[in-house]
Amino acid sequence: MEFIQTKEALASLLSSFKKSDSLGLVPTMGALHQGHMALVKKALSENDAVIVSIFVNPTQFNNKEDLEKYPQTIAADMALLKEVSKEICVFAPTVEEIYAEKVETKRYDFEGLDKVMEGAFRDDHFNGVGTIVEALLRLVKPDSAYFGEKDFQQLQIIKKLVALEKIPVQVIGCPIVREPSGLAMSSRNERLSKAMRQEAAFIYKTLRIAKNKFSTQSAQKVITWIENQFEKRSDLVLEYIAITDTDTLTPVLQKDKNLKYRAFVAVYTENIRLIDNIALN
Ligand code: PAJ
Repeated sequence: MEFIQTKEALASLLSSFKKSDSLGLVPTMGALHQGHMALVKKALSENDAVIVSIFVNPTQFNNKEDLEKYPQTIAADMALLKEVSKEICVFAPTVEEIYAEKVETKRYDFEGLDKVMEGAFRDDHFNGVGTIVEALLRLVKPDSAYFGEKDFQQLQIIKKLVALEKIPVQVIGCPIVREPSGLAMSSRNERLSKAMRQEAAFIYKTLRIAKNKFSTQSAQKVITWIENQFEKRSDLVLEYIAITDTDTLTPVLQKDKNLKYRAFVAVYTENIRLIDNIALN
């Protein structure tokens, strides 16, 4: 398996590919789990070559402690990738390699997509995500790039980024991978106590019931019902619940049967922030 850390080595690897080879990129911050691996497997099934990037991007962390605590498990990540295919190339640059001496965030106009939900609670987060994803897409020049619906807002913002910056790549969204309990897989789940890891299945259970209710009830009624469910749980604190249009991420006021909607939540438990979402129709 190729392990590359510099732009120069990356350029040399890219020049070794045949022109006709299709290339897939899976951007990650490492601490890989089966959620990431589903993206990798999809990329492998659809391309001649696959690059997985592992880079803990400083510009997307609004909380310094969160950045410092981000797990770095490169040996385990490599082992997991190797199990799937020895043909995968890993691009794991240093911060200096990507940002030179200055760690600077580019500013984008995501037309409001970045102002709601995760954007409202994590200042400048999506400009940081945009900065690194644009840099990776320009360096790797993949035909397709793979992102999880776990971070659905991020996925929509990356689609917008690619359109705004006219980057010739197909952005492919992949379904959320869940633990057997229903909890969406996340590297943060490792930090939950054993008991809470089971209890947190309540989040997805609530979203599934909400989806059923949404077929007959107004968005506001469903939101209130979700809020009430979380009110009963002192161990799972709801930071936000939003029901939005899938494409524009604007909150739904009046349901339109021609539009697609999604519910999004962020929940705090044991000082850990968990996010999840579900398609409602
Ligand atoms: P990271 O959190 O490592 O996630 C990398 C990719 O894996 C993202 O596209 C994310 O949505 C996807 N993913 C994570 N958990 C998943 C799950 N349970 N099911 C499906 N997909 C899942 O997201 C980032 O890194 C960064 O913001 C990045 C895009 C790499 C830019 O730094």
